[in-house]
Amino acid sequence: MEETLYSVVVNSEKQYSIWNTDKSLPIGWEEEGTKGTKEDCLEHIKTIWSDIRPKSLMDYIERQIPKKKVVITQDQKDKHLEAIDTYKKRYSAGLDTWSGMDYLKKGIQIFFNDYTSLPSKDVFEIGIGTGRSSETVLELGHSLTGIDVIENDNWSILKEKYGEKFHAFVGDFTEYTRSKKYDIVLDNGCLHHFEPEYYEITFHQIHHLLKSKGWFYLAVFKEDDTSVEEGRVEYIDGGKRRCKYFTKKEIAALFDHYGFTLKDTQEVSRSYDSLMTMLCIAQKQS
Ligand SMILES: C[S@@+](CC[C@H](N)C(=O)[O-])C[C@H]1O[C@@H](n2cnc3c(N)ncnc32)[C@H](O)[C@@H]1O
Repeated sequence: MEETLYSVVVNSEKQYSIWNTDKSLPIGWEEEGTKGTKEDCLEHIKTIWSDIRPKSLMDYIERQIPKKKVVITQDQKDKHLEAIDTYKKRYSAGLDTWSGMDYLKKGIQIFFNDYTSLPSKDVFEIGIGTGRSSETVLELGHSLTGIDVIENDNWSILKEKYGEKFHAFVGDFTEYTRSKKYDIVLDNGCLHHFEPEYYEITFHQIHHLLKSKGWFYLAVFKEDDTSVEEGRVEYIDGGKRRCKYFTKKEIAALFDHYGFTLKDTQEVSRSYDSLMTMLCIAQKQS
């Protein structure tokens, strides 16, 4: 006897179930995209539906979280803008040395290999740059929206190739205001250059952009001195851009403070020197 084929179905409260594909769908339910045996479909639901609270309740909770009003002084803002300017100058002069470094791309590949499964995800990237990490994500079939402080010629190529799956904005992420929610937020080497006064607004933005239990992938400079609890800080680009080296303890505390659970860290060699990058994989707590 032929095995019954089921599809995974979802309603407007983002509740999942399975439905015999021979029968027409009940009102209020639509296909999520996965079909298979009963066991396959139930297994898939387990992986995508970890928070069973209905969407209306989640929306209510989200509305109750006060929008943080972070006070940034003019001095701090000037420093932040000066750092942004260093990126613009480097891209314009072809001195964006990080764009040629393979380890940044490798981290993204590790994350998507280990932490995501189909169906395709909605991904947001902070700091698209030349679109190299973005393309790695798009090649895997996911959709990607991102932002950078300066537009790059490669964006139009990605737009042509991936159409509606790729959206890019020019601007400062700390001022990003759109409200669409994402499954994953990527920061492939941005936050470790931010002044610490900007951490709160940055984490708050990321928290707000992510769906419940969404993933946050962060790549940061790793402190190589294992005897210290706090990593060092250096300034580059004529003292205008901060480089913060993090210990695992510092990263875990940061995530915890801003409502994320650190699930994993991995080290990737920067290959051009003896230092390491720490890939941090965290999940939004609610
Ligand atoms: C290390 S690069 C990574 C670029 C790209 N993701 C890659 O893997 O090649 C960091 C990027 O973050 C961007 N960036 C820095 N500060 C930013 C900000 N406040 N808002 C948006 N993008 C920013 C920089 O312009 C730069 O392109």
